Amino acid sequence: MPEREVEQHIEALLQERRTFEPPAEFRAQANARDESIYEEANKDPVAWWAGQARERLTWFKEWDRDFNWDPPHYQWFIGGKLNASYNCLDRHLDEHGDRIAYIWVPELDGETKRITYRQLHEDVCRFANVLKGQGIGKGDKVGIYMGMVPELPVAMLACARIGAPHVVVFGGFSADSLRERMNQAGCKVMITMDGGYRRGNTIPLKANADEAMQDTPTIERCIVVRRTGDDVPMQQGRDLWYHELMQDASADCEAEPMDAEDMLYMLHSSGTTGKPKGVVHTTGGYLTQVASTHYNVFDIKPDRDIYWCAADIGWVTGHSYIVYGPLTNACTSVLYEGAPDYPDKDRFWTIVEEHKVTILYTAPTTIRTFMKWGVDYPKKHDLSSLRLLGTVGEPINPEAWIWYQEYIGGGRTPVVDTWWQTETGAIMITPLPGITTLKPGSATFPYPGVIADVVDDAGNPVGRGKAGYVVIKHPTPGMLRTLYEADDRYVETYWSRFGDRVYFPADGCKLDEDGYFWLLGRVDDVMNVSGHRISTYEVESALVDHEKVAEAAVVGAQDPDTGQAIIAFVTLKGGNEGTEELIAELREHVAKVIGKLARPKSIIFTDELPKTRSGKIMRRLLKDVAEGRQLGDVTTLQNADVVEEIRQKATLRAGEE
Ligand code: PRX
Repeated sequence: MPEREVEQHIEALLQERRTFEPPAEFRAQANARDESIYEEANKDPVAWWAGQARERLTWFKEWDRDFNWDPPHYQWFIGGKLNASYNCLDRHLDEHGDRIAYIWVPELDGETKRITYRQLHEDVCRFANVLKGQGIGKGDKVGIYMGMVPELPVAMLACARIGAPHVVVFGGFSADSLRERMNQAGCKVMITMDGGYRRGNTIPLKANADEAMQDTPTIERCIVVRRTGDDVPMQQGRDLWYHELMQDASADCEAEPMDAEDMLYMLHSSGTTGKPKGVVHTTGGYLTQVASTHYNVFDIKPDRDIYWCAADIGWVTGHSYIVYGPLTNACTSVLYEGAPDYPDKDRFWTIVEEHKVTILYTAPTTIRTFMKWGVDYPKKHDLSSLRLLGTVGEPINPEAWIWYQEYIGGGRTPVVDTWWQTETGAIMITPLPGITTLKPGSATFPYPGVIADVVDDAGNPVGRGKAGYVVIKHPTPGMLRTLYEADDRYVETYWSRFGDRVYFPADGCKLDEDGYFWLLGRVDDVMNVSGHRISTYEVESALVDHEKVAEAAVVGAQDPDTGQAIIAFVTLKGGNEGTEELIAELREHVAKVIGKLARPKSIIFTDELPKTRSGKIMRRLLKDVAEGRQLGDVTTLQNADVVEEIRQKATLRAGEE
């Protein structure tokens, strides 16, 4: 992030100076209420994590060695055996088999389903047998491309049960993106649905999957869950209906003992190149950190709480805090299928009221949208069941934090702002709600057992009162082990910037005078749009892929609603005109190549892009243009005159929007 921008950002953040102590009542009953948890963890992080692994999980065999570090590679709980699905299900059955695991709330009214741990276990066992019947075994990759229905966690847990890593692709991704991810992982089976519901419309998941599968040589079978009832073509010999297979499957299936370091799943994430990265998570370490953070950060009381993480399971937040965390902790979760504004803008509050939700975890962008819709929507509902709120995905501006606490939390609830990444697998920097004095806009402190700091360009700690890069100085159990079949890229991306013993997340951060961490956003070419991570390069490649486009430069510009918005500067091939129709066409093209989430908000046509004398596009300058900032010295440019032209066009366009 350019220095000026950091300063502006920090200034805005620090204007909010209020602090919030944990309410006495909350503290008195909190799972983590004693500050000694930090001291204990700091004294010996490895031993502390090992304690968490023992306390929160059931192991078939305890590990021989708790940690090994061969920088930058590391292993946790070496030789330990366990199964994630067993930890999520089987071990709860004797005492809590009748507890609700998921309250599934469909987008359309009238069919809420309450699924007990026993029922979930039965479905998972059946589906695990279905997968086995299709020749899937330990180590085989299974692609999943679904909406938010109970069959999605069933599919994931069935994979975990037999040791087949799942590769979930968010249902909003296009056929092209799906194909790329399936091929990169070499999936043998794909699980999808006829279609998914979203704002009353259907998303043609099977049609997209069909398009993707035109060129996925490793996929042998496609299992289709019926949801919308739409008529979808079923390819003979390849496509099978989920409900038909389940009917004949046995509900008896032993959980496969897995090595702690065996891959539980792979999930793709955007990096600074066009190629998505296959982030690899393991069984023992991942589950330990997810279970521990879920229990302590959300202060879970499994027998009482109704917990709702309103993310999509297609992202890491859903993997960790809708599936693995809550189920490991035998908690009751809401699983909501649809959008926050369907059928109306108070849908979330209807759900909170009806199901007496006690803990809500969502993204700042969603909160800002609620703010825009106005307080009347939450005010219509009784939200007094809520006792804790959480956010994740991007920096939360203090206004949104305060609004969330005031209008959703009734001024009573702590708000936990949790910083982490697909790569870290679980929460890394966060308050503990019974201990931490909160500052709106700050994720506060590293979780116990997480050793983080803020450093300058040379890797030296900046000290209190200064900004720099956040770094993690010791691997935690939940962190990625590698990038699938791209270990060099793993080393280069995360463990090279400051040597091979320091993990580099690529986020800017300020440490304040009290040692609080204020995360400031990405310092690389990754944009954060509505909490979705998209690389500028991916969008540029998609644009250049269009026949009329010669060159494209994409930047993420600050946006009051979505955090950042995608702004594209495009030069066209000779003979083409930059019309409104072409803008629409290009946006659609990006949606087709990547998915709707990556559509540029604005496209500005220009005859040339500003370049340095060595021919590099000056993205930083374009970012200044997109954010309406004064431009600095442009004399080093090869083509300084284009800047003024672009600036005028951008101003004009902003005026139109
Ligand atoms: O820039 C940080 C931002 O989201 C990035 C990680 O994105 P992703 O892998 O998609 O995972 C999102 C959900 C865990 C980070 O590098 N980010 C996430 N949480 C926060 C955040 N930035 C500031 N504050 C947060 N609480």
